[in-house]
Amino acid sequence: MSRRPVVAGNWKMHGTSAAATALAQDILRAIGRLRRVDIILCPPFTALPAVARVVKRRRVALGAQDCHWAEQGAFTGEVSVPMLQELGATHCIIGHSERRRDCGETDAAVARKVQAVVAHGLTPIVCVGETLQERDAGRTLEVVGAQLTAGLQPVTPEQAPRLIVAYEPVWAIGTGRNATPAQAQEVHACLRQRLAARFTPAIARQIRIQYGGSVKPDNSAELIAQPDVDGFLVGGASLDAAQFAAIIRAAAGVPAPATT
Ligand code: 13P
Repeated sequence: MSRRPVVAGNWKMHGTSAAATALAQDILRAIGRLRRVDIILCPPFTALPAVARVVKRRRVALGAQDCHWAEQGAFTGEVSVPMLQELGATHCIIGHSERRRDCGETDAAVARKVQAVVAHGLTPIVCVGETLQERDAGRTLEVVGAQLTAGLQPVTPEQAPRLIVAYEPVWAIGTGRNATPAQAQEVHACLRQRLAARFTPAIARQIRIQYGGSVKPDNSAELIAQPDVDGFLVGGASLDAAQFAAIIRAAAGVPAPATT
């Protein structure tokens, strides 16, 4: 079956509201009217309202980069799903490796956050990925499989089809060294098998699996050509409107516009 490609820009901790507004406007201008792809912009929390204003009335979705699992409470510095929803967010990245590494986010925390996100009808982008050490030790499939199983533990079969999973090898993030298409396909196929076992093969065929880690215009076409690569979670290149637009076009299977 053919899944609709989905490309998300994870802007990480880049962009005041003013800068995010300008970047979102530049991106919309650069992509024009693309139809065969879903696009999600994930600015920092503080820039969500500004980007929401820019993407309003365009078929571009808004995502947050994290959330807390509770609705409200004594959690200093945290942001809940209803708060994000109020700002127009429809997606939320969960379990990014930078949060696992820098904020001590565990699989159990990921599962609670995923549960909160789906309970409110938003779509989680659930991130999994191995370190270089784990890859070198031949443990990639075991590590990402365990992360996936743990993170999706609270998801029901009814909620599952709208999930987005992102495979982001830690060694490929921000390094300029992307997974090869064959490496990505091997992991994506294994993740889909796990999804089939956890839910059903039919549900697994509907869940989109993004690749992330040094995605650039010049490697996106060969990555998206893999049967189980359904889009991208883009960091650095999503901060450059022309590069991000080129990646989105590759995911949509649209040739680059002729340059004069
Ligand atoms: P880069 O595209 O900068 O490697 O980052 C990937 C990423 O972490 C997206 O979430």
